Amino acid sequence: MTSEDFDPNRIRKDFPALDQTVNGKPLVYLDNAATSQKPRRVLDAIHNYYEQDNANVHRGIHELSRRATVAYEEAREKVAGWINASDPSECVWTRGTTEAINLVSVAWGLDHVGEGDEILISVMEHHSNIVPWQILAARTKAKLRYIEIDDDGRLVLDDLGSLLNERTKVVAISHVSNSLGTINPVKEITEAAHAVGAVVMIDGAQGAVHTKVDVQDLDCDFYAFGGHKMCGPTGIGVLWGRKELLEVMSPFQGGGEMIHIVERDQSSWARVPNKFEAGTPNIVGAVGMGAAVDYLNDIGIERIEAHEREIMTYALQQLGEVPGVKIYGPKSVDEHSAVISFTMGDAHPHDISTILDMEGVAVRAGHHCAQLVMKHFDVSATARASFYLYSTKEDVDRLVAGLDQVAAIFN
Ligand SMILES: Cc1ncc(COP(=O)(O)O)c(C=O)c1O
Repeated sequence: MTSEDFDPNRIRKDFPALDQTVNGKPLVYLDNAATSQKPRRVLDAIHNYYEQDNANVHRGIHELSRRATVAYEEAREKVAGWINASDPSECVWTRGTTEAINLVSVAWGLDHVGEGDEILISVMEHHSNIVPWQILAARTKAKLRYIEIDDDGRLVLDDLGSLLNERTKVVAISHVSNSLGTINPVKEITEAAHAVGAVVMIDGAQGAVHTKVDVQDLDCDFYAFGGHKMCGPTGIGVLWGRKELLEVMSPFQGGGEMIHIVERDQSSWARVPNKFEAGTPNIVGAVGMGAAVDYLNDIGIERIEAHEREIMTYALQQLGEVPGVKIYGPKSVDEHSAVISFTMGDAHPHDISTILDMEGVAVRAGHHCAQLVMKHFDVSATARASFYLYSTKEDVDRLVAGLDQVAAIFN
């Protein structure tokens, strides 16, 4: 495919779940920031794995175990390629972004953060990138500090210098906000954090999905992302970490696979990444995520990004013209990933979502696991439409038509 022949309508045919009616109307799925739909190729990879190769990994000498291990490790190579990791062993399989952040906060944090140290996060974070650090701060008596956001939903970075000091041990920041769509300048933040010796953890749950990520270029220390928002299955994700950090970190969980030798009183650990993969892993999840990477690579992330930008430009313009609609987040499409958070007059976002659902349009309503963002904007919830490679301008038109129904009911 060339960029000219990027056709979301053709891409939609790869996604069986998109081809259905909801409440008697063709489904318009605009809840991609919560989770994406899965292409046939991923569904087949999962099915074929269970039908033909299913066995436990790294343990058996028999053929099925060998095949399962090869599939599992090949998938690791694929996700490593997706973020340009220099070595697949820097990619640890996790349950998802949430577990990856918890892994770092516990396995790295408990050994490196102490009383009086500082942890810097932002008001924009998903709860997954707040709560683990609150727990760490409480356990270690460290201080949790916040980068504020402005009324356009951007990080206030003017005073970053004053938030960073030699006590800052870790800076944990989202690549892209799930509640506002803001694309954060994570490379610049990383550089500033490194200048004071802090370690940088990037929550890439919404980043690696929509844009080319190059962890070597970002120069961060940890990058977390999950499979289910990028066409893969739920229950699988990746923690990428710098090898030298992963190697000296304590284990996260104990059990099979993560050990080298077990004695009565003590054990020694397996090499990275196995040290962090205790127990039977989500093998089929890894295989499915690998298939998702293959699928997305065949289309091309740059072309997906360009398509999403086109949809976003159209959506921001169309929604901006709906009376009563207020959009939260940056106005410029260059700073705004494929998420639009909005409210509409006095209509509660839950009512907006319910009325849209009657029209076959699936959007999310709530605090989006970002209560601090809601608090900043003094709202309890927003409605959120989020787009992906299969979204079309017709989807946007159906959303706007659904909002006309909301207006008709509320006026
Ligand atoms: C920015 C961000 N961080 C973290 C997460 C948590 O991801 P998961 O629930 O897949 O672990 C999400 C999910 O919505 C997210 O959008």
